[in-house]
Amino acid sequence: MANTKESKSGGMSLPLFLLVLIALAGIAAGVWLVYKKKADVGRNEKKYTFTMQVGDQKTLEALLEHDYTCASSAEGVVYIAPGTNLLLAKAAGEATVIAKDSVTGASETFVVTVVENPDHPGATVRHTVTTEVTTTTTELTTTETTTVPAGVVSGITLSYYSANVKVGEVHPYALVTMTPADATDKSELWTTSDDKVATVDKAGRITGVGAGKCMIRVTSVSNPFVFAEIEVNVVDPNATSSASESASSTTTATETTTASGESAADSGASSQTGTTASSGGAGQNQPKPTIEVRNGITYVNGILIVNKTYSLPANYNPGLDKNAQAAFNEMQAAAAKEKISLNICSGFRSYTTQKALYDRYCARDGKAEADRYSARPGHSEHQSGLGMDINRASSSFNGTKEAKWLAANCWKYGFIIRYPEGKESITGYMYESWHVRYLGKDLAKKVYDSGLTLEEYLGITSKYAN
Ligand code: DAL
Ligand code: ZN
Repeated sequence: MANTKESKSGGMSLPLFLLVLIALAGIAAGVWLVYKKKADVGRNEKKYTFTMQVGDQKTLEALLEHDYTCASSAEGVVYIAPGTNLLLAKAAGEATVIAKDSVTGASETFVVTVVENPDHPGATVRHTVTTEVTTTTTELTTTETTTVPAGVVSGITLSYYSANVKVGEVHPYALVTMTPADATDKSELWTTSDDKVATVDKAGRITGVGAGKCMIRVTSVSNPFVFAEIEVNVVDPNATSSASESASSTTTATETTTASGESAADSGASSQTGTTASSGGAGQNQPKPTIEVRNGITYVNGILIVNKTYSLPANYNPGLDKNAQAAFNEMQAAAAKEKISLNICSGFRSYTTQKALYDRYCARDGKAEADRYSARPGHSEHQSGLGMDINRASSSFNGTKEAKWLAANCWKYGFIIRYPEGKESITGYMYESWHVRYLGKDLAKKVYDSGLTLEEYLGITSKYAN
């Protein structure tokens, strides 16, 4: 029996060995399955699906062994900076993002749903963001709603996004607004994409250098992901082109008027020469204007006047004049019929708002330069509720079809171009093709027909006392 047992025992060794092998294989398979299951738990379907709000940024973290590349099925919904895993939610919708292991080729798929930001419905994704990884080539856009830690700048808006500048010309500063208002560090870094076309100084002053186009960028120092850009078109007035020819012929025409206008303005203070309704202005007798001041507001021949000579009380806050608004609406509708789109980009401005604007311009540009294009607080026509800027308060508006339409037609609706080209010595301000003043239809027609500025027409000055 012992032999038999021994003999049996010796005869079972191979199957037993096989059994052990099978058991070991089973354990290994089990371990692998458990491991796989564990891994899958980390990559289950829930993890592959997530939601972002328009303007959000998110770093995608795929569970892949090696470096991986990411691609979006709908870049308009979820944008991915090339070579990065930084996602930007651009618009409401759905996008499939695939992360692919650069060594094994394994991939993971994420379904991203982008929803509107409820605090900013319809927000536009505008600002450009540069990733740390690819600072030179990667550009994303984000809104002011980007989620960032408290106190950090999350958005930048500018008072203009494009500018036409002549070679050698210094352009008026853009007004920069960084949000949130309580961000602790709102310092700006200004750079140009091509200093052979335009330079920009630390304060954001743009100077035309050579004909061409370039981008001027202002970046938040506290959050370099956030910046805004101005497309600058530099024109060389000495170059022979149809554009420059038409510009110089306009200049010649207005400069002729300027010469007579200067004398009219000079004499306007004392003798009030000039006419009220003819372009022959200078040399003809003009009755002395009636100037009344009621509650601190100046009326010349019954017309409210605010310029460098005449100011408004700081607490004068009428809002946009109802008649001016109605006249604008009528003008807007008439323009639309001719496929001209007009809108008010700046209407009523309070004393406080004007002060903020003016102080900022002075800090950057110096008082003398700021005085050429920005009214001191209390001296802006915007505070009267009768002045408004149309479409874009920027020289880039000059010469556009909208600007031409406005210049030719605004009088029909009761407006005049308040600061015409070549009249800075009279109105006190550089040419503003976008700024109109509501006078009512009768008077606007008379002033338009006269070819004079309002100062010349009324025989008044526009000069600061000091
Ligand atoms: N830009 C005009 C002159 C204003 O500041 O009212
Ligand atoms: Zn204006």
